[in-house]
Amino acid sequence: MATDTKPRADVNRYLKNTVHDLLSLKGRTIVITGAARGLGLAFAFAIAEVGGNVAILDAADKPHEHFEKLQKDFDVKVNYYKSDVTNYEVLKATFDEIVKDFGRIDGLVTAAGICPDQPFLERAPDSVARCMNINVLGTYYAAQLAAAQMDKQEPTEFNPRGGSIVMIGSIAAYVASKGQATSDYCASKGAVVALAKALGVELAAKKIRVNSISPGYMATDMTLDLCDRMPWLGDIMQNEPPMRRMGDRTDLKVPVVYLLSDAAAYHTSDDILITGGIHAGRLM
Ligand SMILES: NC(=O)c1ccc[n+]([C@@H]2O[C@H](COP(=O)([O-])OP(=O)(O)OC[C@H]3O[C@@H](n4cnc5c(N)ncnc54)[C@H](O)[C@@H]3O)[C@@H](O)[C@H]2O)c1
Repeated sequence: MATDTKPRADVNRYLKNTVHDLLSLKGRTIVITGAARGLGLAFAFAIAEVGGNVAILDAADKPHEHFEKLQKDFDVKVNYYKSDVTNYEVLKATFDEIVKDFGRIDGLVTAAGICPDQPFLERAPDSVARCMNINVLGTYYAAQLAAAQMDKQEPTEFNPRGGSIVMIGSIAAYVASKGQATSDYCASKGAVVALAKALGVELAAKKIRVNSISPGYMATDMTLDLCDRMPWLGDIMQNEPPMRRMGDRTDLKVPVVYLLSDAAAYHTSDDILITGGIHAGRLM
């Protein structure tokens, strides 16, 4: 393979590209899996706030009520598709429909996931397989379908640099969760983080960047409900992080936009840990 021997960078480009411009997703289309609610829905708002069009796909019949606000408040295109990341044929048909509706795919965020909590010795094969299918294969299939479309697209004025894929991993890829028994979830998130690294390398020549974000405990309707039902778990989630609080979805909005945007043009095969410090040590 021929390689350039001279650096090609325009050394003065930093004078022209403002931070504001670099973080813009204006004109781009981003697909988000598992965004009917939770973290994915917050990512949809973040993307719309910087001008990106959003195609949400999820297994739920209908999205959370905030979806209406998303459609109303921003001057971008927002569509909801009921689909299933574990069923390749169904998922492919959804991606085809998205390309028909939006014309292209510039970015993908994979947030569809489940987190079974049951002791390892009691986990049934079907249930383990379901977790792996959604968390790992669902991520793999969505990335493959998005990358295939990105690879076909020509650079445009609003996206001269190619595609970006952001996979949602978890702190569980690195450390076992205190107070929870989540063996298959931890294994699945380890796979997601490894997949992002491998694809970042393999797809670099196609101008597709692939990274992951690994959040710690994040407050969503689901986790707050869990904390109400199991107060001792709420105590862990609130007090175990060195920063002594759960994360808020707001804490992930800019990191997701950053990785999708040209601000991260040289950033690939990485995992960004946003955990309030748990990955470095625990206080309780
Ligand atoms: N909330 C946290 O504290 C936290 C922390 C670390 C990582 N994560 C990860 O972030 C992602 C989102 O988590 P969340 O807290 O928003 O959960 P959530 O349950 O609120 O959202 C997950 C979404 O995935 C969808 N989904 C499930 N199976 C699907 C399928 N087969 N096809 C399509 N969609 C499907 C669900 O319908 C749901 O809307 C997950 O991958 C989760 O593991 C969450």
